[in-house]
Amino acid sequence: MEWKLDRTSKEPLFRQIARSFEKRIQSGELPPGAPLPPERKLAEELGVNRSTITAAYEELRASGLTQSVQGSGTCVSDHLWGVSPRRLPNWHQYTNGGSFLPTLPLSKRIREASADPRVINLARGQLSSDLFPEEALSDLLKSTPLTASLSYPDPKGDEIFRHTLSAHLQKHYGIEAAPEEILVVSGAQQALHLLTQCILSPGDAVAIEGPSYAYSLPLFISAGLRLFRIPLDEQGLLPDEVMSLYQKHKIRMVFANPTYQNPTGTTLSLARRKRLLQICEELRIPIVEDDAYGSLTLHGSQAPPPALMKLNQGGGSVIYLGSLSKTAAPGLRIGWVAGPRSVIERLADAKQQMDFGTSIVVQRLVESYLSSGQWERHLQRIRKELTIRRDVMLQALDQYVGDQVKWNMPEGSYHIWCRLRNAIPDREVLETGIQNRVLFLPGEIYGAERGYIRLTYAGVSESEIEEGITRFERTLQTVKNSAQI
Ligand SMILES: Cc1ncc(COP(=O)(O)O)c(C=O)c1O
Repeated sequence: MEWKLDRTSKEPLFRQIARSFEKRIQSGELPPGAPLPPERKLAEELGVNRSTITAAYEELRASGLTQSVQGSGTCVSDHLWGVSPRRLPNWHQYTNGGSFLPTLPLSKRIREASADPRVINLARGQLSSDLFPEEALSDLLKSTPLTASLSYPDPKGDEIFRHTLSAHLQKHYGIEAAPEEILVVSGAQQALHLLTQCILSPGDAVAIEGPSYAYSLPLFISAGLRLFRIPLDEQGLLPDEVMSLYQKHKIRMVFANPTYQNPTGTTLSLARRKRLLQICEELRIPIVEDDAYGSLTLHGSQAPPPALMKLNQGGGSVIYLGSLSKTAAPGLRIGWVAGPRSVIERLADAKQQMDFGTSIVVQRLVESYLSSGQWERHLQRIRKELTIRRDVMLQALDQYVGDQVKWNMPEGSYHIWCRLRNAIPDREVLETGIQNRVLFLPGEIYGAERGYIRLTYAGVSESEIEEGITRFERTLQTVKNSAQI
């Protein structure tokens, strides 16, 4: 290489050296992984101080063009294959920053496999499209007037819609919440995000069910929260564990999904609900009750105990989350938070900063859907259909994998939580399933120990359920055979 250091230039020598390497890297002359000369040797060659070379290399490293490898000096960064000769921002460095942690590789793998239409998807936590109220919503969309205005919405939510939600909560859950105590959000997930940003701080300890709703975990971790698990049995979480977690870790909040818990399907008994409330009141810590599935009782099962929010009426210890994602369609992105007025005000203020409020068009549409009684009729239909699908899945499990798997009998909602008799590593069972073209969720996603999986019957037809479970049986057989080789 021919060095042309211009000692008369105002540009410092180290920057001239860095720029020269930059050109060679971007032109492809120095490919990814190529070593740069050792600092001492280059300093001698150029007749400059070693510190000048150190500064030049530091500049290259900071721009992401080079990396240091322990024991081998500096080389061109590995991720620069196909790099454009233009001076682009170092997107690699940018995209590895930010406050949201990237999705875990296991979740990415599941997302990728979900896109394959040949795969029977027993992982997706939503209704199949034939169970979405598409026709009713399309008709309402045509007839719903957008009279008020299409200006920025009230960040708390449209007033008429909040009145309807107040009546909805009263009628279906016995919950008394005035319109001012309700916030409309873009799904329960946004409510969780707002809560982590507004009422918690990095380092705070939160008690969650173990295992817990999968998408709450990365959100909480990204917010810098410390998570502690409350063990569960068939009657839901063990409330007294909250007390011992509090003593050890100074818990600041309990997050629970007491009815038809995702993923275990368990429902917290009335006695435990009362005990949990008693403990949290004593410790003066709030409970966030996620009730995404509460109205999905399957036929032949008793209604669940009242929501914690109802049991705590007037007590002010519970923040209640609801959503239309599981009983209508997740694409609507409509959920709500009911809680103490001060909390709702704080969350609404943050929502204003975050997105200026949920789309007024969707709020009006959903308002008509709820107030016309169509949601209730739809709920009857999906509860019936979900009962059929659950029974088909239970029957197929019994027939094909009864000797290898244990499961619970869900009384509501979408999922069956299974324990494999042989605790196969999650990665292995997932990959073998994908090879056999069936997808399910391994327990690791929920923070469970090895040997658990969640199967969902809501998103597939009866015939797909049956075929899916035969593929699941083949998966377990393949894993067993390869272990014996
Ligand atoms: C327990 C639980 N809470 C919240 C959500 C998120 O719901 P939404 O679509 O309303 O954001 C889900 C979705 O799977 C869930 O299972």
